[in-house]
Amino acid sequence: MNNKISRRDFVISSAAAGLAATTPVTSKAQTPAAKIKSGIKPVVIASRNGFTIKNGGDISCVETAFERMARGDDVLDSLIAGVNIVELDPEDTSVGYGGLPNADGVVQLDSCCMHGPRKQAGGVAALEGIRNPSLVAKAVMDHTDHHLLAGRGAQEFARSMGFKIEDDLNTERSRELWLNWKRRVDPRHYLDPEKRFEAGAQAGLDMVKEGLIEENDYYGTINCNGVNWKGELCGVTTTSGLAWKIPGRVGDSPILGAGLYVDGEVGAAGSTGRGEANLYGLLSYLIVEEMRSGNHPKDAGMEALRRVKDNTIEPRLLNNRGLPNFNINFYVINNVGDYAGVGLYSPENRSQYSVCTENGAELMPFEPLLDGSPSD
Ligand code: GLY
Repeated sequence: MNNKISRRDFVISSAAAGLAATTPVTSKAQTPAAKIKSGIKPVVIASRNGFTIKNGGDISCVETAFERMARGDDVLDSLIAGVNIVELDPEDTSVGYGGLPNADGVVQLDSCCMHGPRKQAGGVAALEGIRNPSLVAKAVMDHTDHHLLAGRGAQEFARSMGFKIEDDLNTERSRELWLNWKRRVDPRHYLDPEKRFEAGAQAGLDMVKEGLIEENDYYGTINCNGVNWKGELCGVTTTSGLAWKIPGRVGDSPILGAGLYVDGEVGAAGSTGRGEANLYGLLSYLIVEEMRSGNHPKDAGMEALRRVKDNTIEPRLLNNRGLPNFNINFYVINNVGDYAGVGLYSPENRSQYSVCTENGAELMPFEPLLDGSPSD
């Protein structure tokens, strides 16, 4: 596998370097003025799906975000432009349009974003009918006094902001996979609600084992964080959440401190993987606090993974070795552009995350806390 996209020339505009009198910012609110700081290595980091070149396009999420930062665009607008590519991709069954639906076959999306310099945030949970939940999260940040809108209210807010509401965000493929799951759970037309959810998790995991769904797509998600030449930090997370979830289930992705946390002075962290394990410890917040104490992004991320391991004691969540039977990953950058991607497991070093710097985009192996794989 070629892990390196051919090097692109990122032309750094004077605005990106903080030299222009006015910085072009696409957000309504202006980012406080900041000048270039020495020693900063600008970077965009994202989950694996941030590297894929999508059908019809010629540039990945991380490159799009980096290129826009290089042009001097606002960092959060740049990151959101990147994840929008993944949200709109019908082939990515973990995010946005074509994301795997809930147990009732309805696609419900979660997202949040944080703007370091502006110290603002917004999020949406269990949002139906809008392909780009990250843009609605940004609208919550820009146009309301709130940080999180959920369900019907989130959709009504989006409608009032001019977003197009669609009846159904399923693609042929996501619907086909949902029907496959449904038949496994209740061949007699799902008449027993209790058994349906007990059996539901097993049926989902069986589909992963049979290769119908990639493990990453079962929990879904893209997280994308960036820092520019001026040290401005932002982040965004967007997901269709756990496949076949109980309708209304909200994971870690839209929750500030869990699926994403940014402190403009310190760093940013976000996650993919089993959201429940992250929600229990608000681990993106923990990671940023670890960096505030002086720890490198890798060490900060490893501390979060140790918490996951220590807090996972329920037998149904343990493998034969007594270790977590699921995976979770964190994407971490600090205020000078040091970065790390860490995971509970990185089986045979196959799990990777995306990075884009001035040298181009590449896939990097996660630093794992534990040997082997979740199912060992
Ligand atoms: N991390 C995505 C989710 O659990 O929904």
